[in-house]
Amino acid sequence: MHDFMLKRFLPYYRPYRVLFLVDMGCALLLALADLVFPAATGRVIDVVVPAGDMGRLARFALALLLLYAVRAGLEYIVGFYGHVLGVNIQRDLRRNIFKHLQTMDIRFFDDTKTGQIMARIMNDLFDLAEISHHLPEDVLVAVIRLVGSLVVMLLIDWRLALVVFAIIPVMALFSSTFRDKFRRAFKQNKETMAAINERIEESISGVRVVRAFGNEVFESRRFDEGNEEFRRSRVRSVKHIGVFSSGVGLLSNWGLVIVLAGGGYAAIKGAISPGSYLAFTLYVSRFFQPLDILVRSMEMFQEGAAGFRRFLEIMDTEPSIFDSADAVALRDVRGTVCFSDVGFRYGDGRARVLHRVNITVAAGETVAIVGPSGAGKTTLCSLIPRFYEIEEGAITIDGLDIRRATLDSLRMSVGLVQQDVFLFSGTVR
Ligand SMILES: Nc1ncnc2c1ncn2[C@@H]1O[C@H](COP(=O)(O)OP(=O)(O)OP(=O)(O)O)[C@@H](O)[C@H]1O
Ligand SMILES: [Mg+2]
Repeated sequence: MHDFMLKRFLPYYRPYRVLFLVDMGCALLLALADLVFPAATGRVIDVVVPAGDMGRLARFALALLLLYAVRAGLEYIVGFYGHVLGVNIQRDLRRNIFKHLQTMDIRFFDDTKTGQIMARIMNDLFDLAEISHHLPEDVLVAVIRLVGSLVVMLLIDWRLALVVFAIIPVMALFSSTFRDKFRRAFKQNKETMAAINERIEESISGVRVVRAFGNEVFESRRFDEGNEEFRRSRVRSVKHIGVFSSGVGLLSNWGLVIVLAGGGYAAIKGAISPGSYLAFTLYVSRFFQPLDILVRSMEMFQEGAAGFRRFLEIMDTEPSIFDSADAVALRDVRGTVCFSDVGFRYGDGRARVLHRVNITVAAGETVAIVGPSGAGKTTLCSLIPRFYEIEEGAITIDGLDIRRATLDSLRMSVGLVQQDVFLFSGTVR
């Protein structure tokens, strides 16, 4: 399942593959640069200091100064160009989904809440773009650090290294008990957040109704409920996060102490030099960090995958109303509109709104259709520009079935004034 989604996501990297490679290359060098310091410190203590070699000490210091200057450059590139990559991908995702939304049927918008679509285009895609570069960067850096410090620790003293490795399963066990808790908590956060969005959307777009019926108090109460629900959900998840990070912190600090004691013992026995001992403890602290990062990356991946799945859900919804292969442009419209035996309902399983409707309106004629609310007047009119597809019968304009006309030319030829007027911002062209 994830494979399939990855295949759909990778093309978004394609236009920026150079940027991506530069970003990843710099992240790689960055992780390698971080491995130098403990070894250098060990050498200074074991070799340079006992020899009293000032010149060599200065050269060491100078080399490290240079190394950190280069590292700063690398960090800038990863921080800046990584985000450029992310925001480029974000723009492309957003452009694609917006373009796709323009082609969707009116029915889609009937069935989908605006707040939901907004959340997908803004929040989901923002998260996804952040993940698109942070995830590969973090994982690469973590793996290099992990493997690098592992190898170096083995080289310094394999027995001490084994002590460190014994802590890994404990950490993995501890982390795994949190995976389900995190997933559930994050899911609940998303859901309660969506509920708040929905309430805001409804009470704002329905503000006239709310005011007309003096429903402000009721609306506020409903909002407060959702808002409180969200607060509770967030409190629960930050509690999990708190326990998790302090637990991981505790385990790695204890690991450090164990190494300190074990290494001290070996140093007292003369089995390890003081420099190696110090280098080793420095590597251990570098070794535990990536474990934490890898666990967090896993969560990040889950969240990104969920966002991308929602993105694909929209992208894979095909419009059902489109130009037929033999569509022709409606030209020189005179305006004879004819309904013959038209039947229509809003979706399968819904009640029939129109049944065997026959109307002919000659060009130039003015016809008023009168009926009680809900009779189907608005529905009747929205069938002419093909906002919805009729189920039975046919509608023709000047004798041409509207299903054989191109949508563009059809909608250009039909003027429509809605009951509820919507004003676009901007100038009239
Ligand atoms: N988007 C929709 N999805 C599902 N059902 C709908 C939709 N729009 C209208 N209906 C239903 O179709 C029926 C006809 O509605 P329509 O809006 O066409 O009536 P109307 O004659 O224009 O009413 P009014 O005089 O209030 O404007 C009603 O039962 C209504 O509930
Ligand atoms: Mg109406």
